[in-house]
Amino acid sequence: MESTSCPEGIEIENSNHYFDGVELEALAQEYGTPLYVMSETIVRRHCEALRESFLRRYPGTRAYYASKAFQTLDMLRIIKDEGLGVDVVSGGELYAALKAGVVPSDIIFHGNAKTDHEFRLAVEAGVGRIAVDNLEEIYRIEREAARTGKTQTILFRVTPGVDSHTHRFISTGSLDSKFGIPLEPVETTRYIEALAACPHVDFAGLHFHVGSQLLENTSHLAALRVALGFAARLARDFGLTVRELNMGGGFGIRYLPEDRAPALSEFVDPLMAAVREWSAREKLPLPACAIEPGRWIVGEAGLTLYQIIAVKEIPGVRTYVAVDGGMGDNIRPALYDAKYHAAIVGRTRDQGASVGRGEAAGHGRAQNRSSVVESNVATASERPFRTVTIAGRYCESGDILVRDASLPEPRPGDILSLFSTGAYCFAMASNYNRVPRPALVMVKNGKARLSVRRETYEDLLSRDI
Ligand SMILES: Cc1ncc(COP(=O)(O)O)c(C=O)c1O
Repeated sequence: MESTSCPEGIEIENSNHYFDGVELEALAQEYGTPLYVMSETIVRRHCEALRESFLRRYPGTRAYYASKAFQTLDMLRIIKDEGLGVDVVSGGELYAALKAGVVPSDIIFHGNAKTDHEFRLAVEAGVGRIAVDNLEEIYRIEREAARTGKTQTILFRVTPGVDSHTHRFISTGSLDSKFGIPLEPVETTRYIEALAACPHVDFAGLHFHVGSQLLENTSHLAALRVALGFAARLARDFGLTVRELNMGGGFGIRYLPEDRAPALSEFVDPLMAAVREWSAREKLPLPACAIEPGRWIVGEAGLTLYQIIAVKEIPGVRTYVAVDGGMGDNIRPALYDAKYHAAIVGRTRDQGASVGRGEAAGHGRAQNRSSVVESNVATASERPFRTVTIAGRYCESGDILVRDASLPEPRPGDILSLFSTGAYCFAMASNYNRVPRPALVMVKNGKARLSVRRETYEDLLSRDI
């Protein structure tokens, strides 16, 4: 998170690249490519920074990790160990969180189209909060809670009508949004009537989330003003107290060396000051505040390793560098025009063997090692830099990972790293073109452990009848 030109956690020694103390070329040799690599040290460091700038600084606050950004059992256990709650948005994410041992009351369940089955799972498990996204949900939660003899605590997810300065697909707070409850007075009354008719539903407060990858605090502050105005109206017109205020996630990170990501305190300090000032002015109790960062915790903790398969020069136009992954393991450039920083971090010693190795079943560690043969190709640091386009392997022209990457003369067999891929890459991966999804390795202080194994061709057919 500090502003150096090297991505967080990367150290270069004798032109070898180390991430959290583990040599990246060795990881590619051992586990194959494409390969997601996550640094446990960075994840934990960010959790500590979150505690320092928010939880400890403002007693009574809570933080939920937005697990949609990156969810594995391994990661959920780390989050639990770090004492954070977990935000889930589906029955599947909830199931995994419970399997990982997350305490149900530490879970907040979101979604704009929750099914009855998901409500049943959530209420039966005893999740701490459900963020209500539409009127009917109040009655549906009531049915489920009454059936199980429980009281379910809820928040209203409100649409603050704020346009965040981010890509329109990751902007969620503007009025014309599929997420959240519009704050029209007539609408509001219907929600309050529903609460009165649902004795098993306990209204705790409000939630808003304005968008993702925000590099300024202005949208959060504007949304907060709207939410607090609504909270005052609830107190005045309906005698309803907002005990909790969840201000969502969206805190931006550094993707490119030239990016400047604000510190978390640049978001939360003015937000907390505004809440305190509102409470004093309105003479209303200070709500317990929460945030839900996803990307901010994991984005810079991850990178993806690829092997360069082909280099194709179109004279006078551009040079395409095709790698063995792409939109199947990282949809963000195609979906959001997301930008990434890339570097060559080593070479595959036996290109033919490793191409298949990354994909097929039964290629364990021992076999991978045996395919390594020494090569005397010049290391990347000795080659002149060129501007190239890094293309994925999928059958879509839009499958471009980086449009203008500056790389030392890329060659087939080179190992390429894309940095800051920890958020919304693994989580959004697909099997397009029947390409197996990559393995995921966690690194920590010089040690690596397989966290999610590579998919096999058999996995790909396992659901076909
Ligand atoms: C309700 C909610 N909370 C939290 C997040 C996490 O956002 P980010 O990963 O940008 O912090 C999202 C992301 O879409 C969200 O919809």
